[in-house]
Amino acid sequence: MFDKKAHENRTKWFLEARFGMFIHWGLYAIPARGEWVQAYERMSAKEYEKYFHEFNPDSFCPSAWAKSAKAAGMKYAVLTAKHHDGFCLFDSALTEFKATNTRAGRDFVREFLDAFRAEGLKVGLYYSLIDWRHKDYPHYGDFHHPMGDNRDYEGQKHDFDNYLDYMHGQVRELCANYGKLDIMWFDFSYDSLMGEAWRASQLIKTIRSYQPDIIMNNRLEVSGSGFGSLLCEQPKDYYGDFVSPEQIIPPYGIKDEKGDDVPWEACVTMNKHWGYCSADNDYKKASTLIKKLVECVSKGGNMLLNVGPDARGDIPARSLEILAEIGQWMKNNSESIYGCGRATPDKPENGRITAKGKTLYYHITEKSIGDIPLHGVREEEIKRIRLLKDKSELRIQKSWIVNNYPDVVFVPEINSADETDTVIEVELK
Ligand code: GLC
Repeated sequence: MFDKKAHENRTKWFLEARFGMFIHWGLYAIPARGEWVQAYERMSAKEYEKYFHEFNPDSFCPSAWAKSAKAAGMKYAVLTAKHHDGFCLFDSALTEFKATNTRAGRDFVREFLDAFRAEGLKVGLYYSLIDWRHKDYPHYGDFHHPMGDNRDYEGQKHDFDNYLDYMHGQVRELCANYGKLDIMWFDFSYDSLMGEAWRASQLIKTIRSYQPDIIMNNRLEVSGSGFGSLLCEQPKDYYGDFVSPEQIIPPYGIKDEKGDDVPWEACVTMNKHWGYCSADNDYKKASTLIKKLVECVSKGGNMLLNVGPDARGDIPARSLEILAEIGQWMKNNSESIYGCGRATPDKPENGRITAKGKTLYYHITEKSIGDIPLHGVREEEIKRIRLLKDKSELRIQKSWIVNNYPDVVFVPEINSADETDTVIEVELK
């Protein structure tokens, strides 16, 4: 039975946090062509193993990762404990294909968790439901699988129940052996592999028995597209606590059937790949990402921004620069992000609005000629107006220029405006 109150309580911190770091990291950092390389290049598990024998990230320093996330203003992080290739960054007793058996000999999940918790960040683990390593995960005919169209595998029998035991066992290990986890991030359901095909209700029971407050995404039900039963009057037992749109910001945010906002988190890459891709320099600008974060918040959502550390364990230099730039803006303006959400006035033509209680944050992303209009608010409703970055007073402008438009509140042009997004705080009575 869906317990609305419990769901609200669990997701409270998540809705406050608004901004997190996604980390895709694993053996695929070596070929450096993204995390789907094994499938795209139709590599057998045996061929792929060469990267396992080589993996030895000498520069891995999770406290540096955590510091850059924190400095960017992120409040939580999610690391790929196991991706589709089946390689585990944690010390699972159920497989040999794990970080502690590489030349590195380290439990990267534990180190990640310790380092991020030490910075006061919430922690989550991504766990792939799909597994291209396990002998009992369907091969032939599964078009995602590296051997999906390899005739040698046609007719091969797979004991899927055995795989499910393994998968449940690993999720149990993560939940039982690594302290308090804030997020379990599953990936992903497709075709007939969804919901109870994963024994999802049982899995959720197990997870909650160890981690009563953990929140989960909706991918036990859907993939990066699809919403899941959280939108329905009566969500399934294995409903996700939040919807996880991928590489898109939902045009209107996401609401349930009754029209109420539900928690969602857009996961977004900085360039065009999740896992490290050495040839991909097509990075979004920091200013774009700041505006996209604001867009998410103004539509009631979170943004989970990805980095793909390389085979040595370093976050790419360009990603670090972008994070630092975002951090500069967040340092001045994060109050308009944390704990904020949709505003009642519609999106104004010169930017967006986020809101928290009686405060509206006008994000001015489009410069005016002269005085700045604050659409959607009336003068008599306003208690005070401040420039958020220094809390300096902004007085309502009165002049022969603006007096022709008595229904619009104007503030004077701001000389120290932020090129990307100048935030004006409007406190209502
Ligand atoms: C996917 C991809 C994957 C990535 C994830 C992030 O569904 O398969 O590689 O980890 O989305 O949302």
